[in-house]
Amino acid sequence: MQRSTRVNYDAIAERYDSTPHREKSADPELIAFLAGRGPTTTLRLLDIACGTGNQQIANRDLAPNAQFVGLDGSLGMLRQARRKTPDIAWVHGDSAALPFAAGSFDFVSCQYAFHHFRDKAGMLREAFRVLRRGGRFALYNMCPQEADDWLYYDYFPEAKSRDFADFWPPDAIVSEMSATGFSKIELVRRHVHHERELAELLSAMRFRERNSQLLSLSDAAYAAGLRRIERDLDDPQAPKRRAEHLCFVTARGDRR
Ligand SMILES: C[S@@+](CC[C@H](N)C(=O)[O-])C[C@H]1O[C@@H](n2cnc3c(N)ncnc32)[C@H](O)[C@@H]1O
Repeated sequence: MQRSTRVNYDAIAERYDSTPHREKSADPELIAFLAGRGPTTTLRLLDIACGTGNQQIANRDLAPNAQFVGLDGSLGMLRQARRKTPDIAWVHGDSAALPFAAGSFDFVSCQYAFHHFRDKAGMLREAFRVLRRGGRFALYNMCPQEADDWLYYDYFPEAKSRDFADFWPPDAIVSEMSATGFSKIELVRRHVHHERELAELLSAMRFRERNSQLLSLSDAAYAAGLRRIERDLDDPQAPKRRAEHLCFVTARGDRR
């Protein structure tokens, strides 16, 4: 098992779902894939690095007769998923060595986990291998390279180089998917701009043990980042609301 070098998910599994933004609605990529298809009885759908299972649980009503499978490398995360929904197959395994037969899934997704994988090309090869002909793969992640003005980097600048190494830029994802054999590869970027209260940022950043980016910083870099936010909060000249910019990317590809 090639564990993430950023965070020990077994250690944070029980608290994972209480972190903001963990809730999921039905996957729009799966909705688009299912549109216009016939009966879903024989469909098999896999979510790689499913974590506590929220995406597969939210997807179930889209195809009540289909077989949903979630795979993750953390037994602790899978324990949470199983506790919520025992009737989905929750499988322990490595994203680069999937314990499934070739051509056994119609739809494979992977959400907000690609930056954790040590063998990213291996994971893409495995996603392709387990897809049936006519099947689709959808990869979601953040794209720090196209949001390097992310407010978080202002206060925790040490995170940037680590993120730039761990998160592949969109071009690299597309070119590796193409080399793997995926066809009809498409990439969608979503830029989100909003304002953030500095006081709220500080309270969010204090929950270090629930945040894989904060956990990947050294203790000194983390403490220095918190001090920078506190200094701005104390400085009457410093703005107390700051612009925030995030970029999300979805890459999809089919197996012909
Ligand atoms: C940020 S969580 C994302 C969980 C879920 N996809 C979501 O969107 O909430 C990253 C997940 O990747 C899993 N993971 C990391 N490396 C893995 C690997 N090599 N194989 C399988 N799962 C892995 C972790 O255990 C963790 O559950």
